[in-house]
Amino acid sequence: MKPILFITQKLPEQVVADLQEAYEVRMWPEEERNAPREKLLEEVKEAHALWTMLGDRIDRELFEAAPNLKIVANLAVGYNNIDLDAAREHKVIVTNTPDVLTETTADLTFALMLATARRLVEAEKTVRNGEWKAWTPMGLTGQNVHGTTVGIIGMGRIGEAVCMRAQGFNMEVIYHNRTRKSLEEAQYAELDDLLKRSDFVVILAPLTEQTKGMIGERELSLMKDTAILINCGRGGIVDERALYEALKSKSIWGAGLDVFEQEPLPLDHPLQTLDNLTVTPHIGSATVQTRYAMMQLNKEALQACANHKPVKNRVC
Ligand code: DGY
Repeated sequence: MKPILFITQKLPEQVVADLQEAYEVRMWPEEERNAPREKLLEEVKEAHALWTMLGDRIDRELFEAAPNLKIVANLAVGYNNIDLDAAREHKVIVTNTPDVLTETTADLTFALMLATARRLVEAEKTVRNGEWKAWTPMGLTGQNVHGTTVGIIGMGRIGEAVCMRAQGFNMEVIYHNRTRKSLEEAQYAELDDLLKRSDFVVILAPLTEQTKGMIGERELSLMKDTAILINCGRGGIVDERALYEALKSKSIWGAGLDVFEQEPLPLDHPLQTLDNLTVTPHIGSATVQTRYAMMQLNKEALQACANHKPVKNRVC
């Protein structure tokens, strides 16, 4: 009998077909909704392997309900949705999808910097709503991107890829990171110093005990009133209530967010009322090529596990 794999959201047919040699594949049939918690808890009673997404909470309760589970392959580079201590205790392998999404996520980060600074969403609405009356001297004026200072919080692979793009825009790059790196193109700065000096504060850190709520009222108050906050890391790093107040009172100029404390961002969330905010629905890695590359890594990890071969991209 083949081991059982449960996939928590609908995947392209070919990806599933490729896994059927090694597994009896069971899959939640919806693409736009993860398997509900009760379904997941029911499936793990039998499953040997899980293919999970960012929206799945893989916690101690789940590991305790999963006597056969050998591997969780998470379709993301981040894995804050998984309790690694509980995984280790239950001797379950956890894998992620690093590297293949680095450049794509850096592209989106830069796109959010440009879109927010140059008010692209507002500008598009102006055209489509028939509000474009004339060229005006100060109409829809934004902030420069080229020649400014970008402060990157979380200088991992994606941070370095953003840094490379910033060179092309003649920007000064400073960064704050858990550990200092020897980088020619970017200088280390303490967090407060980075916040005071940056025209763009770009968050690319993972969500950990150390980064949770790292950018709150005090930190936002240190930023320039012309500065822009970009978050492509994880929502929980920024206190959204404090960010709302900072944007509303214009103590900072704007923000571009791809990630939120609660995803999807509710329609009645106060952030939804702000014009000086650009929002995207957690699409950092969303290109066809990159999503297939991520799925390939997940497939390889699951196949290796089923065939008792060494599993790559383990985070535990
Ligand atoms: C990740 O992989 O962690 C990203 O947030 C997905 O876009």
